[in-house]
Amino acid sequence: MAIRLIILAAGKGTRMKSTLPKVLHRLAGKPLLGHVIDTGLSLNAEGITVVIGHGADQVKQTMTQPVQWAMQTEQLGTAHAVMQGLEGIEDDDTVLLTYGDVPLTRASTYQKMLDTVSESQMGLLTLHMEDPTGYGRIIRDGADGTGAVVGIVEQKDATPEQLAIKEGNCGVISIKGKWLLSLLKQIGNDNAQGEYYLTDLIGLAVANNVNVEAIHPEDAWETDGVNSRVQLATLERVHQNNQAMALMEGGVTLRDPARIDIRGTLTHGTDVDIDVNAVFEGKCHIGNNVTIGPNCTFSNAIIGDGTHIKANSVIEDSTIGQQGDIGPFARIRPGCELADSVKIGNFVEAKKAVIGNGSKVNHLSYVGDAEIAENVNVGAGTITCNYDGANKHKTVIGSGAFIGSNAALVAPVTIGEGATIGAGSTITKQAPGDKLTITRAKQTTIEGWQRPTKKS
Ligand code: UD1
Ligand code: MG
Repeated sequence: MAIRLIILAAGKGTRMKSTLPKVLHRLAGKPLLGHVIDTGLSLNAEGITVVIGHGADQVKQTMTQPVQWAMQTEQLGTAHAVMQGLEGIEDDDTVLLTYGDVPLTRASTYQKMLDTVSESQMGLLTLHMEDPTGYGRIIRDGADGTGAVVGIVEQKDATPEQLAIKEGNCGVISIKGKWLLSLLKQIGNDNAQGEYYLTDLIGLAVANNVNVEAIHPEDAWETDGVNSRVQLATLERVHQNNQAMALMEGGVTLRDPARIDIRGTLTHGTDVDIDVNAVFEGKCHIGNNVTIGPNCTFSNAIIGDGTHIKANSVIEDSTIGQQGDIGPFARIRPGCELADSVKIGNFVEAKKAVIGNGSKVNHLSYVGDAEIAENVNVGAGTITCNYDGANKHKTVIGSGAFIGSNAALVAPVTIGEGATIGAGSTITKQAPGDKLTITRAKQTTIEGWQRPTKKS
């Protein structure tokens, strides 16, 4: 008895007005379809089949998760789509049918749907809506229409009385493989849209004495699909708000929960304080007592305990140690590893730089392909000239070195431990430790020199 998912994703998404297949549009940085697949994977589903059609190649190329693909070359309806994805489904399986453009359904809701399935029972996700326009209407028996679910009528096939029903079909179905395999074959396309309706499965199941259990989502947004960019933006805000609430409940101070975006995962320690407009991408972690100033962006960044990231800093694919002091206006590019108590000041760009404890690069510098040991002071405007026009070279600076302002360190080059480099020097050869190395011309004063005067 395995759990299997079939995700329908063959539709074009005309209303997106895009060349990109709809399910590849991104919510929180991840394709819509990726959200559904990841939720499915979290349920330990044995197999996930995605039915694709429009933009199939692009969808396959973009998604990296382990799924089985099925092709629906012509979109003849939701039941027809499911029929394309039946390979590998066995009688004994519990099958969940869902859509690739409904990204935010909770795993717990899917789980409820799965738990309800037996030989004699299937699950259907429904919701009482103020305005169910566009949704299939849930038909229940009993004189007052509140009895057991007996069928679904599509909006375009509904009578005026049926249109008044407020319970809508959210589209997600859970059912035993045996019933899915046998009942799908009986679905025809004699209806207002000439489509094979998956919703006809409900009436057929009831006719076979299968009880249809209506399951409701905890929140209405769980069942919202994306058909337009407006709906995409609306759901993005829902998702970001959910994440912001979870952060605050986890002990993080957010100066404004409406102004943080997490496009990936963010884990954190205690007493983290995040100012407005922070963007986190990929996998990020921030340690205890970290403060983050306004307008900072992080991508696969790890920030150690007690570090302050000041306004307008950008940190990418890098690790910052504890008690660091970064920014404002710092740019930490991929491959940086900063140890503890490192200070990176304003307008400093670092790339593939390994920087030891207590070292400082305070102003207007570029350090790239550099190994900087402990307690080094890199003066304002210092540049590691790492690129010769063809290849990149390394700059190595020993501990306790002092690099005077506006030095150009032409790599490959090594500065010894405790070395001092005079301001304005262009260093092309190894500078020995504990000595002052200067390459600039000696300062002279020209006696009798006069400033030019303006000609009349
Ligand atoms: C469907 C339901 C309706 C429900 C609504 C919920 C049917 C007949 N109707 O209607 O009761 O209230 O969803 O949103 O099922 N798709 C394919 N191949 C196809 C047709 C559709 O892959 O041949 C995919 C689409 O890409 C989409 C999903 O299935 O992701 C739903 O299709 P759509 O046409 O939007 O369904 P609705 O008409 O809205
Ligand atoms: Mg349709």
